[in-house]
Amino acid sequence: MMRKYLIAGNWKMNKNASESVALVKELVQAAGKQSDVGVVVCPPFTSLASVSEALADSTIEMGAQNMYFEKSGAFTGEISPEMLRHLRTSYVILGHSERRAIFGETDALISKKVVAALANSLKPILCVGETLAEREGGKTLSVVETQVKGGLQDVSADDADRVVVAYEPVWAIGTGKTATPEMAQEVHAAIRGMLTALWGAEAAQKVRILYGGSMNAANADALLAQTDIDGGLIGGASLQSHSFVQIVESARKLS
Ligand code: 13P
Repeated sequence: MMRKYLIAGNWKMNKNASESVALVKELVQAAGKQSDVGVVVCPPFTSLASVSEALADSTIEMGAQNMYFEKSGAFTGEISPEMLRHLRTSYVILGHSERRAIFGETDALISKKVVAALANSLKPILCVGETLAEREGGKTLSVVETQVKGGLQDVSADDADRVVVAYEPVWAIGTGKTATPEMAQEVHAAIRGMLTALWGAEAAQKVRILYGGSMNAANADALLAQTDIDGGLIGGASLQSHSFVQIVESARKLS
C-alpha cells in the first residue's frame, strides 16, 4: 500500500516567535502549495499562534512538541490538547527521547497523552528508540517493543491511520551519526511487525513510521527509499529552510 511520506521538523527549544515566522514564510514560499508529501513544522509553544497564522493558506501543517493529557485545571506550566486544537495544531510529538531522558516521561504517561491526543483530533507522533548502550547490549528491539506497546496500549486499530511512530535511535540524535538505511529499515520493519501483532496487518500498513536522528539533505534519499521508512522527523536540519526543503524534495521524488 502507498503511504504518503511525512516530513516533520522538530525545532526543539529554538526560534522565538519572530524567528519562527521568518522561517515558516520561507517554507511556505518553497513548499507551501504541494500536496504530494505531508509537511509539518513543530515550533515551540510560544510560536504556535503566529506560525499557525503564517501557515493559513498553505498545505503545511503544524505540530506541537509535547502536551499534557488533562483537559484543564491546576497543572502549572502545562498545555492541554484543546489549547493546541484551538490554534489549528494537527500533530503532537509525544515521548521524544529528550522528554524521556531529561524530564522522566514514562511509557505509562506517554500512553495517556497518546489517548488524549487522538480524543482531541490531534495525530500523535510517538517517538521510540534505543540508547547506544542498549544497542551495544543487543537490546534494541526489546527496548523499542516496550515503548511501542507501552505507548499504544490503549489505542485501537481504528485509529491506526492517525498514528505516526518515529524511530529515533538516541545515539543518532544531534550527533551527526545516522543509522545506515539498512539498520534503520531493520528496526522499522520490526516496528511494523509489532503493529501487526497489536492491530493486524491491514491497520499496521496504514501507520507511517518516520526515521529521526541526524537526517539531512545528503542522507535523506537513501533513508526514504527504504520500504518501511515513510518519512523523517528532522531536528537540526529543519532549522533552515534550505536543508528542510531539500528533504521534502527527496520525498517528493520518491512519491
Ligand atoms: P537531529 O535531526 O538534530 O539529530 O534531531 C532529531 C530529533 O530528535 C528529531 O525529533
